[in-house]
Amino acid sequence: MKIEGQAALVTGGASGLGEATARELARLGAKVAVLDRNAALAEKVAAEIGGVACPCDITDTDSVNAALDKAEAAHGPARILMNVAGIGSAKRIVGKDGNPAPLEDFVRVVNINLIGGYNMARLFAARCARLAALDNGEKGVMLFTASVAAFDGQVGQQAYSASKGGLVGMTLPMARDLAQHAIRVCTVAPGLFATPLLLELPEPVQQSLAASIPFPPRLGKPSEFAELACHVVTNGHLNGEVIRLDGALRMAPR
Ligand SMILES: NC(=O)c1ccc[n+]([C@@H]2O[C@H](COP(=O)([O-])OP(=O)(O)OC[C@H]3O[C@@H](n4cnc5c(N)ncnc54)[C@H](O)[C@@H]3O)[C@@H](O)[C@H]2O)c1
Repeated sequence: MKIEGQAALVTGGASGLGEATARELARLGAKVAVLDRNAALAEKVAAEIGGVACPCDITDTDSVNAALDKAEAAHGPARILMNVAGIGSAKRIVGKDGNPAPLEDFVRVVNINLIGGYNMARLFAARCARLAALDNGEKGVMLFTASVAAFDGQVGQQAYSASKGGLVGMTLPMARDLAQHAIRVCTVAPGLFATPLLLELPEPVQQSLAASIPFPPRLGKPSEFAELACHVVTNGHLNGEVIRLDGALRMAPR
């Protein structure tokens, strides 16, 4: 799908990989809606790229529908959804104090990363399915953001890995489901990227993380994630696939 002129939605668009994706889409001529629960940052990014801020919580259906309505009123119906919003977590299943990990933590992470992603996808897909197909036959495309932790989760990453593994697992069945509606679905599984989360770590920790990447031995740039996300949109034969973007990194147990 040609990006220029299309209406696009980016969850998590206020920060990090989502922000870079929103900026790249705008640079390529898309009309971008920044969907994020951080309303102030969403407004800031949207203003800088000539887009619209649509604050919402991806786990809350009413909030998502209101955001989709706002985006559609501003830009027309969206054909591109970049699902980038997500949170991290680290909790051992049995803590150092011998107590079981709090179940609430597992539920919170899976609820935002996996169920929130599915919620966005279903609400977007139903709207997109009603649109007329473009000249190349497609109606829409969506992308999920997993993580290499879906495959090589580290100590303490059960909740995060389960949530990202869930996104990986639903990519193909969702692509198969939505084939009849001419909507493609792909997932990117990033390795280690220089977003606020990692840039807040002490410099030596950042350096040792970077050194663990075979090549190039540096943290990924958010712009590199954004380039791949946009390539998924423009390459009409990419569908039902999970793409690692990690410089050949395979995470160690800890
Ligand atoms: N940075 C990395 O190295 C890395 C690696 C692998 C995967 N990822 C994944 O990439 C995605 C983006 O990560 P990032 O590093 O850019 O993080 P980030 O914290 O910079 O950005 C995440 C954004 O998502 C938003 N968000 C969180 N929960 C939300 C909700 N319920 N509803 C709406 N918005 C919500 C936040 O407000 C924030 O703006 C996440 O899904 C993360 O798991 C990141």
